[in-house]
Amino acid sequence: MKSIRGLSAVWPAVAPVLAVHGGAGHIVAGQLHATRVAAANHGLHQSLLAGMAVLRDGGSAVDAVVAAVVVLEDDEQFNAGKGAVLTVDGGVEHDAAVADGATRRAGAVACVSGIRNPVRAARVVMDRTPHVLLSGAAVVELARSEGLALAPGRWFVTPRRQEQLARLQRGCRAESEMTGGTVGAVALDVEGHLAAATSTGGSAGQFAGRIGDAPLIGAGTWADDRSCAVSATGDGEAFILSAFAHEVDALVRIAALDLGTACHQALRVVGARTGTGGCIAVGPDGTVTMPFTSAGMFRGWIDAAGDPRVGMFAEDLCQ
Ligand code: GLY
Repeated sequence: MKSIRGLSAVWPAVAPVLAVHGGAGHIVAGQLHATRVAAANHGLHQSLLAGMAVLRDGGSAVDAVVAAVVVLEDDEQFNAGKGAVLTVDGGVEHDAAVADGATRRAGAVACVSGIRNPVRAARVVMDRTPHVLLSGAAVVELARSEGLALAPGRWFVTPRRQEQLARLQRGCRAESEMTGGTVGAVALDVEGHLAAATSTGGSAGQFAGRIGDAPLIGAGTWADDRSCAVSATGDGEAFILSAFAHEVDALVRIAALDLGTACHQALRVVGARTGTGGCIAVGPDGTVTMPFTSAGMFRGWIDAAGDPRVGMFAEDLCQ
């Protein structure tokens, strides 16, 4: 337990609550530029406000997590949407998922390029197709037919990510660089329904065609009103092999662990596969937990009082 850092808190049932993350990664206190931290915290803040505006208007948890993730996809600070990490050949490939705890349905897209907000495409898969996971170029045509915003591949590529890839290809990693940055959101709405969404560019320098945990329902994303909504971030392969998000669900729903303990235990399974990372999770009683085993995790939460709290390291967000 001592290597796991984070926060647990409890709000009254059906008071809406939202948590977001901007990724866990190999970041060292004092070595990530203060301006970068401030910019990321600002993005998390904006995301929380966007999602809570939906919840406060009586909107659904699904609408709230999509709204929160769209803000983070549009923010170049994070590894999602514009500004996502590059594949080994310099391309951008997005994965995203959304899960609805009320219906226990989910939708996801994998390895897509050219959709401005991949989480919206995941929502289309859930709401408008009989499928759960779609991949590749056909998703762009589906997105176009549904009126989603598209952009050419080069629009997503930023100089910061080009420099990151060049450094990786030279075999060096800048101490000040954060390698993760996947984004996600979990929410409880006023009807007592849960939802989760996750979006990512994957892992810097990954093989073209690699798919991570984010769009795999039960690995990086999960929601079930009976147990929890979960969005994960970290070393995707270890989260996939641990069936991480479903492990959290099973520990709550079947083993009757509290949500915080379940997340810690599931992160230990990831750790046994030498993976690090973290997650955000919310339960039907409004419990929020945001544990991580990496050096830090950009994260934040907001309740109906509307005061966003954001931070990166363990000492941030202490109550
Ligand atoms: N956790 C994000 C990824 O590995 O793709």
